[in-house]
Amino acid sequence: MPHTVQGIVSRAKGAPVELVDIVVPDPGPGEAVVDVQACGVCHTDLHYREGGITDDYPFLLGHEAAGVVSAVGDGVTHVAVGDTVVLNWRAVCGECRACKRGEPRYCFNTHNAAQPMTLPDGTPLSPALGIGAFCEKTLVHAGQCTKVDPDVDPAVAGLLGCGVMAGLGAAVNTAPVRRGQTVAVIGCGGVGCAAVAGAVLAGARRVIAIDLDESKLARARDLGATHTVCSAGMTEDDVVAAIRAQTDGVGADVVIDAVGRPETWRQAFYGRDLAGTVVLVGVPTPDMQLSVPLADVFGRGGALKSSWYGDCLPERDFPALLELYARGRLPLDAFVSERIGLGDVEEAFATMQRGEVLRSVVVLDGDRA
Ligand SMILES: NC(=O)c1ccc[n+]([C@@H]2O[C@H](COP(=O)([O-])OP(=O)(O)OC[C@H]3O[C@@H](n4cnc5c(N)ncnc54)[C@H](O)[C@@H]3O)[C@@H](O)[C@H]2O)c1
Ligand SMILES: [Zn+2]
Ligand SMILES: [Zn+2]
Repeated sequence: MPHTVQGIVSRAKGAPVELVDIVVPDPGPGEAVVDVQACGVCHTDLHYREGGITDDYPFLLGHEAAGVVSAVGDGVTHVAVGDTVVLNWRAVCGECRACKRGEPRYCFNTHNAAQPMTLPDGTPLSPALGIGAFCEKTLVHAGQCTKVDPDVDPAVAGLLGCGVMAGLGAAVNTAPVRRGQTVAVIGCGGVGCAAVAGAVLAGARRVIAIDLDESKLARARDLGATHTVCSAGMTEDDVVAAIRAQTDGVGADVVIDAVGRPETWRQAFYGRDLAGTVVLVGVPTPDMQLSVPLADVFGRGGALKSSWYGDCLPERDFPALLELYARGRLPLDAFVSERIGLGDVEEAFATMQRGEVLRSVVVLDGDRA
């Protein structure tokens, strides 16, 4: 029997999100239904609401989630009812040209559920990043379920499903930061602070955190940033000079742009040392254009990379990161700024825009301790 549950839907560009009934079908072949326990509010959800990703309204938002598998369809073997899972948006296909050449982190044909979740009138919902988890139950492809230790707080575990993995992986997997390097991170929300934590984990000798907001810089310091730069009111050149001032005048080996705007990318481009690496992890909107002298692209050398989902492989990375967390080497709980209810997502977007949180996390078991 399909289930009718409550979920957070974005119906039109820029309009406030709504808590409405949604219909979750029984899982078909290869699919699973997951009872969501926790789901973080990521800036990408707000990008969806603003029309910055696609125009396929209505969206079922939420994609940073942990929960328990409550039903599986035919042919599902790698997860079972009762398993605690983190949902991922990289269920690799094993067959596309990226997978075939041994680079499944770039998989071009990741699996999502074949059936749509719908509004009660049958209107299909577009689930954010193929997940849609601001709801009590969600339907996903079974490959989107990564089994994890059931003892970990779901509000913490779920964050690996997007922002924390994206930021941490941008440093550890995409750059990749090596022991003794200097790293600058521009934008220290949930994603950027995770990049700071990743740089620390990888053994960076200096980590320079840059944000417009002092309170974010305090969080970055808690996570191991060695220097901070409040860039409010600064020009692009000022930010570049501030990075150079903390890196013996030469620029950082790696600069991670966790904002995703032309000006922050240029700050990253010029803030890195010659032959250094830029990693773009913030998501630009379709209207943004970049202009850089080609001679500088040539003359400064190095690597200009983009990082999708921290180049992670969920089955490899989620359990490993949770083990580091359990051993006290990765302070994942520092990312959970507040626990909120399903009906509070619109307010959480405002809280995020005011820069007050790394992550607001929707919890569905009533426990908002
Ligand atoms: N590449 C991926 O796989 C991936 C995954 C998740 C999120 N993202 C993207 O990462 C970005 C950050 O997400 P988040 O959830 O951390 O957002 P957030 O809103 O929590 O944080 C953004 C931070 O950037 C700061 N900021 C904004 N403009 C700035 C500027 N000009 N200079 C310096 N700092 C500035 C803000 O003060 C804030 O602290 C978003 O674009 C999001 O869509 C990418
Ligand atoms: Zn593939
Ligand atoms: Zn996200």
